[in-house]
Amino acid sequence: MIEFRNVSAGYPGGENILRDISFSVKAGENIGIVGANGAGKSTLLKTALGLLNFEGTVLIGGAEVNKKNLPVIRKTAGYLLQDSDNQMFMPTVLDDMVFAPVNYGKSRPEAEKAAKETLESLGAGYLIDKYNHKLSGGEKKLAAIATVMTAEPEILLLDEPSASLDPKNRRKIINILNSINKTKLIASHDLDFILDTCEKVMILNNGELVCQGKAGEILQDAELLDRNGLELPLRYYGR
Ligand SMILES: Nc1ncnc2c1ncn2[C@@H]1O[C@H](COP(=O)(O)OP(=O)(O)OP(=O)(O)O)[C@@H](O)[C@H]1O
Ligand SMILES: [Mg+2]
Repeated sequence: MIEFRNVSAGYPGGENILRDISFSVKAGENIGIVGANGAGKSTLLKTALGLLNFEGTVLIGGAEVNKKNLPVIRKTAGYLLQDSDNQMFMPTVLDDMVFAPVNYGKSRPEAEKAAKETLESLGAGYLIDKYNHKLSGGEKKLAAIATVMTAEPEILLLDEPSASLDPKNRRKIINILNSINKTKLIASHDLDFILDTCEKVMILNNGELVCQGKAGEILQDAELLDRNGLELPLRYYGR
């Protein structure tokens, strides 16, 4: 579903940030991306979506990521941005939520129904007509997650989905992600969240893929985590 082959990528006019990254994600797999601030997690997700220039090969849902395929890539892969302010750019939550579904052929009433149902499934139906600029940080995150889910993409690329959520909403998102049988790549500093949602994990350090494997093993390896600027998940801390 997702494949990186010897991928190096960077921002316009700058040096490569990601260096020689290779991995693959099978259909239905959930993989966490962890690493210190600036390690390259968000850059990796942006590269998967074709938002950055890169060397090497990236495949999303069987399609090679290139200019020609961008429309199909965007439809296949839903992207939750790290900063919800950049995701929710229309006046109201509903405006943002119906944008992609209508673009992909749903009627406006159908898209509105789907938007309402998704928000309600997150216990946030009350957000539907709110102005984005008047939302709290966590409300904006919930609205952004709902926006990505409403478009029903086959692949979810989620950048810090649990950041700014309260414990109950965080738990709700964990349960919902676990109930959707889609391929997911989740970047997060919340290693407990990764343990609850992902069977595998990869560690990025300074643009390099240091290791990948079972989340339950890698995220218990205090030395490995420490070498890569990370700490044990809370549930393993002090044991
Ligand atoms: N728009 C940009 N232009 C130039 N360099 C950038 C840009 N965005 C990020 N970078 C650089 O790329 C590197 C990786 O950043 P990235 O956002 O991928 O890190 P991250 O692992 O997501 O970090 P965080 O945990 O803070 O979200 C950093 O050194 C950063 O300064
Ligand atoms: Mg980031």
